[in-house]
Amino acid sequence: MSEIRCIGIATGGGDAPGLNAVIRAATKAAILKYKWKVIGIPDGFDGLIWPEKSFELTAKEVSGILPRGGTILGTTNRGNPFSFKTVENGREVTRDISAQVIANVEKLGIDAIITIGGDGSQKIGHELFQRGLKLVGVPKTIDNDLSATELTFGFDTALHTVTDAIDKIHTTAASHHRVMVVEVMGRDCGWIALEAGIAGGAHVILIPEIPFTIKRVCEHIAERESYGKHFTIVVVAEGVQLPPELRENRRMSAVGHLIGGAIADGSGKEVRISVLGHIQRGGTPSPLDRILATRFGVAAVELIAQRSFGRMVCLRNERIESVDIADAIGHLKRVDPNGELVRTARAVGTGFGD
Ligand code: F6P
Repeated sequence: MSEIRCIGIATGGGDAPGLNAVIRAATKAAILKYKWKVIGIPDGFDGLIWPEKSFELTAKEVSGILPRGGTILGTTNRGNPFSFKTVENGREVTRDISAQVIANVEKLGIDAIITIGGDGSQKIGHELFQRGLKLVGVPKTIDNDLSATELTFGFDTALHTVTDAIDKIHTTAASHHRVMVVEVMGRDCGWIALEAGIAGGAHVILIPEIPFTIKRVCEHIAERESYGKHFTIVVVAEGVQLPPELRENRRMSAVGHLIGGAIADGSGKEVRISVLGHIQRGGTPSPLDRILATRFGVAAVELIAQRSFGRMVCLRNERIESVDIADAIGHLKRVDPNGELVRTARAVGTGFGD
């Protein structure tokens, strides 16, 4: 069994607050405990196409990055070495360059890689592992929708950002007696909308897991009017299932705008729309995210030390554990429409438009 002397770290997919905390923790643990050399691979797996861009991560290099959002390594949500898009003779072609990527890992003297990424990056990591690359995974997404882990770092920070936005929207909504639609991230699942909606006291929460109608949302607004509440806050997850009459325009406009327009028509109220967008992915990570990211980074180094390749760290019953990446990918953790969180929201009068 060859000895580990050098590891590489790559961040892939959309960024999330806490990525730098993982990079710092893994680098420090690798250097301090195991005396390994650490190489930072820029821009996810793309960095392995051009190995000369990689650079050594020293304790000095990772100093001061714990509270910093984003990733010092850079990232991309397009790079896939199994279907790498390039231009040859003026034509766009797709190539499998995974063998070149694996050869470049060797060229860099890297014995094992930590890949920090969401479902897409872990899928690529798993395929590279099957082709012989020694690799471990760290899960990442602000959407918190990976079924293998109870929590992903970045989610808590996003909740703080969205809750703060809802709090601010609350006062202007009340002052102007308006309906305020707040569109938040959540491509497939409604965790950010649901939890920030509960934390911010939203009156209607629309999530991909619960089909809704504009009619029911307007009835909820009218009901609030009937007991003297002349404003309503509607939090919408971007991945919501639009009612049929709004579907054809989905590509042309943010869902918040489509839903806001339909609510204005259906309720006769003045409506304003805020699409929070990438503000939710930025900013300094919360203490909870920094702690989880640090635990994940250290645990990933331990997986390599134990030669548990092809595994991904995760949080289960509040303990750091690991799972086979093969079992972790492709299963989303969806909001249970009948679960305790949704029931709690309903119990305090929140509508889901159903
Ligand atoms: O995967 C996390 C996420 O924040 C989704 O909720 C969102 O749809 C997506 O990233 C946006 O990613 P980008 O704009 O980087 O393509």
